Amino acid sequence: MDELIEGWRPQVAASILTADFGHLDRVVRKLERAGVDRLHLDVMDGHFVPNITFGPDIVAAFRRLTALPIDVHLMISEPSRYVDRFLQASPETVTFHVEAPGTDDLKAATLQAIRDAGAGAGLAVSPGTPTTAVEPFLRWLDVIMVMTVEPGFGGQRFMASATPKLGEAAQLFERAGIAGSTHVDGGISRDTAAVAGAWAADVCVVGSALFQRGRDTADEVQLVRERALDGHSAGPASGA
Ligand code: DX5
Ligand code: ZN
Repeated sequence: MDELIEGWRPQVAASILTADFGHLDRVVRKLERAGVDRLHLDVMDGHFVPNITFGPDIVAAFRRLTALPIDVHLMISEPSRYVDRFLQASPETVTFHVEAPGTDDLKAATLQAIRDAGAGAGLAVSPGTPTTAVEPFLRWLDVIMVMTVEPGFGGQRFMASATPKLGEAAQLFERAGIAGSTHVDGGISRDTAAVAGAWAADVCVVGSALFQRGRDTADEVQLVRERALDGHSAGPASGA
């Protein structure tokens, strides 16, 4: 695990869920200027989670707006039914939930379809789901996304209790000899980034913290990176 961590640098993926949907082009330019590494697009169907956001056409619109890598986070009940349409928008990665209905074979086939389209394939685990739930799919995984809020809304309280799952996910990848990435998603800000860093999350998804009135987005990105690095050097044992 240590050799994996040398030169570790946390990437910041901006979730636009709580941004001004009336000016998405402005939001993207602001995030680019703020130096975010990736764009995290939360797709919700009002069935898997009690909220509805947007579909593949909006993801395609973001693709036309920016060269930033796009991570699509599918909080939908039928990822296999819609994944091809999202893949047409050429995202960097597509992650759906291991809790989504459907057989393991269907989930494996969906992960394979994501990879066949040239994107990274990921599974997300909600706070109440053990990391071991993704074990049967490891050979198809490029991303394990650990939720530190219940999926469905931005601006929720960070659940530090879920963060050790980042270490478990990294161990699963390491033991399987897979160079996968761990993403931590939900409630990440300057105040919680140290915990994410302590568990060496490869990607920190940051949403509402980037759109706080009176706070500068670029400063927040920088602070999240710095605090994650501080937390990383302290390590999990520090309970950072
Ligand atoms: C929640 C989403 C998260 C959320 C992150 O269901 O998956 O990506 O938008 O936003 P914050 O950082 O505000 O929790
Ligand atoms: Zn998300």
